[in-house]
Amino acid sequence: MSKLLYIKASPRDARSHSHKTASAFIEEYRRHNPNDEVETIDLFSENLPEFDNFAAESKYAIMHGQQKTAEQIKKWTQIEKVIERFKSADKYLFSVPMWNFSIPYKLKHYIDIICQPSYTFAVTDAGYKGLAGGKPLCLILARGGNYEKDSPIAFQWRYLEFIFGFMGFTEIKTIVCQPTLGDKEIVDKAQKSAIEAAKTISADF
Ligand SMILES: Cc1cc2nc3c(=O)[nH]c(=O)nc-3n(C[C@H](O)[C@H](O)[C@H](O)COP(=O)(O)O)c2cc1C
Repeated sequence: MSKLLYIKASPRDARSHSHKTASAFIEEYRRHNPNDEVETIDLFSENLPEFDNFAAESKYAIMHGQQKTAEQIKKWTQIEKVIERFKSADKYLFSVPMWNFSIPYKLKHYIDIICQPSYTFAVTDAGYKGLAGGKPLCLILARGGNYEKDSPIAFQWRYLEFIFGFMGFTEIKTIVCQPTLGDKEIVDKAQKSAIEAAKTISADF
């Protein structure tokens, strides 16, 4: 039995294009993998620990092989809990709106927590090494406008592929739902084609 972790980064529910696409993905995934567990982290409902002074200093202490203070240990225990939950999954699904050409701040907060030396990446003599072990990860991206993957202004896609690649994910699949704003017929068509792509990918995920 595997665990699929679904991380939802839109605060919207039924009207969210990324969540709607992810829901179709999960429905199809469950049909093909009835014994698998699907766990959801709704980032806008989650009480994530602040990545404050104690967390940042803990990170530097780990990188420099130094001892942490009692306050840093207390904070780091909260950070570790979030990382362990993330690492407990076998497969990952993210639904992500484009916000200001990038990602919602709650997802950045989550990434700032989980992207840690000796947990999700290592610093070796040969450079950085991701520790996620090539687990499968699917990104569902919703964008109001239409952007090419390599558009210089659409950071959302490139950033997410980079940061998850940095953490060691090598099997990254991306579904783009765009445009989600404007002419209803065009938007509906984009949503339909994103759902079809989600069903195809999830059947073999
Ligand atoms: C705060 C905010 C910022 C946004 N910034 C952009 C943007 O930079 N470019 C864009 O094309 N759409 C932008 N949009 C529109 C969303 O990307 C679009 O509505 C998308 O469908 C949101 O995802 P969701 O439907 O899953 O919630 C923004 C929306 C919000 C609420």
